[in-house]
Amino acid sequence: MVNKISAEEFYDNLAAKYDDVLKDPKCNAQHVHEAAKIFHKYNYHQGSVLDIGCGTGFLSELLQGNFEYTGIDISSKMLAYATKRGYKTIHKSIEIALPEIDTQSYDFVFCLGSLLFVEDPQIAIDHVYRIARQAILISIDEATEEYIKNFAVPVDDYSKITIKNAIEDYWITGWTSPTTGIPIQTRMIYIEQNN
Ligand SMILES: C[S@@+](CC[C@H](N)C(=O)[O-])C[C@H]1O[C@@H](n2cnc3c(N)ncnc32)[C@H](O)[C@@H]1O
Repeated sequence: MVNKISAEEFYDNLAAKYDDVLKDPKCNAQHVHEAAKIFHKYNYHQGSVLDIGCGTGFLSELLQGNFEYTGIDISSKMLAYATKRGYKTIHKSIEIALPEIDTQSYDFVFCLGSLLFVEDPQIAIDHVYRIARQAILISIDEATEEYIKNFAVPVDDYSKITIKNAIEDYWITGWTSPTTGIPIQTRMIYIEQNN
């Protein structure tokens, strides 16, 4: 078992290298590209995006169109990069930030690679459904026992959680952990809101 540190400390330390890690062939990060692929398939070209656990805001490099981004993240160092990409930022935990956001206040809500850090994923998902006007994209990594043991940040496996009314719900090899070398299976989920 490795010594555990907080997500804030881990991602503050990783921030300067995070985009290089995402682009590293060894990491083979597919989950953000897959999310962008699904999003484009449904022909969205403009609107407001809430990016939960936004990290450096890499998502905005991949979405083609006219979008305004707001990102929530616990790491101020990750958010500094998102700001450079034009994000408005909310430097709070997901648990504190989501209940403070108005109902139906963003066209699109993305939550990629960050649910495994929260205490109660169902509460977070309920807020996501409440906040999104048009569509939701979620990626949930499978946190195996080995991964939970070896990753420096405490995480849980929520990858089998029941998601209602998903239009797309399938698994890919999302990425390979740069710190543990373990390939991560990732569940990709797309939901449309019927207002
Ligand atoms: C694996 S990265 C994913 C970043 C980006 N969404 C992507 O897919 O490339 C996880 C991000 O979630 C953030 N994070 C972890 N736990 C969090 C929490 N409880 N509240 C807010 N952000 C959190 C981290 O700081 C980090 O930027």
